[in-house]
Amino acid sequence: MRVGTVREIKNHEYRVGLTPESARELVTHGHEVWVESGAGQGIGASDADYTRQGAKIVATAREIFEGCEMVVKVKEPQASERAMLREGQILYTYLHLAPDPEQTADLVKSGVTAIAYETVTGPGGQLPLLKPMSQVAGRMSIQAGATALEKAHGGRGVLLGGVPGVMPGKVAVIGGGVVGFNAAQMAVGLGADVTILDRSPDVLERLGIYFEARAKTRFASTANLAESVADADLVIGAVLIPGAAAPKLVTRDMLGTMKLGAVLVDVAIDQGGCFETSHATTHAEPTFVVDGIVHYCVANMPGAVARTSTYALNNVTLPHALAIANLGWKAALQADPYLAEGLNVHAGKVTFEAVATELGYDYVPVSDVLG
Ligand SMILES: NC(=O)c1ccc[n+]([C@@H]2O[C@H](COP(=O)([O-])OP(=O)(O)OC[C@H]3O[C@@H](n4cnc5c(N)ncnc54)[C@H](O)[C@@H]3O)[C@@H](O)[C@H]2O)c1
Repeated sequence: MRVGTVREIKNHEYRVGLTPESARELVTHGHEVWVESGAGQGIGASDADYTRQGAKIVATAREIFEGCEMVVKVKEPQASERAMLREGQILYTYLHLAPDPEQTADLVKSGVTAIAYETVTGPGGQLPLLKPMSQVAGRMSIQAGATALEKAHGGRGVLLGGVPGVMPGKVAVIGGGVVGFNAAQMAVGLGADVTILDRSPDVLERLGIYFEARAKTRFASTANLAESVADADLVIGAVLIPGAAAPKLVTRDMLGTMKLGAVLVDVAIDQGGCFETSHATTHAEPTFVVDGIVHYCVANMPGAVARTSTYALNNVTLPHALAIANLGWKAALQADPYLAEGLNVHAGKVTFEAVATELGYDYVPVSDVLG
């Protein structure tokens, strides 16, 4: 199969669908890989890095869309890209169609076979193609919080690990899922005094077994939460209620109980945020202060570490890309029910129920398409 990847054109998107190493993997399996010139620039991969791995560099995205059977991307296709999609082509990328009627209409009209990273599942119902971005954001949250705690950034001037003879900083992580676990790992690694709060007994048990005495676990009752937040130098908001807006667990009143210059990092900001005083910020201006408390609320944290994020994403997307290239999309989806859940649009039909319901399309189950 001829597989292509383009330079991402969404504002401030530096990741790329295929790394040079992923291109090599496809080439090794007998496929042809076309890469738009400059596609890897944001992760420090030059055109020469791709050609060394057996890919062919082409000058424009148009050549990729015209010449490739499958296009592998990161972000949903922008309007100018959607205009180049064609019937029978496979598009494999993040799509997030439910809140995006224009994109959905264009994909339906184009006749493309669109497989969305975010709806591919795994055993146990997880979303393995979203997980690496939560891992990145969780780990970054401690880095971002530690920087914000410095005086020059408005923080209270606390070093999370302390030094011999001086107590370490206190970190409260609210939500012990993928983001929270990775945040706690980083904070523990720095030598901070870490408490993880969650409402799920199973999650608390798993965290307790993993961290043993290196981190405390605490049930996230209203009272416990208020106490841990008041006591913390750094609070990480990492809760998720699937399909719902994040609950506002830290109210404006609670800020008054916190230490002046303490820091809130709201990773859940992409779901509306779990602190009442949060609003989404960008990497250009990541923080703001409310009542003396520094807020960091960047909605696309992984974008700042595009290289790490791209490699983490490719680790989970490449096996499916290979299966699709090796078997063809239909046989690949027939062989893998988890990958089949990724099919959102095929030949003018919406094949993902939530998208069809949300946007008023007839829903055609994937099983009907696969026969
Ligand atoms: N800002 C970014 O760049 C970025 C990047 C990746 C993920 N995220 C977001 O981070 C959030 C967390 O993602 P995740 O992958 O860790 O989700 P997850 O499902 O793995 O974990 C969420 C955890 O929150 C817990 N929880 C739910 N309600 C709670 C409550 N009231 N109190 C305490 N804990 C509660 C759950 O039990 C679960 O353990 C999501 O909103 C996700 O979209 C943001």
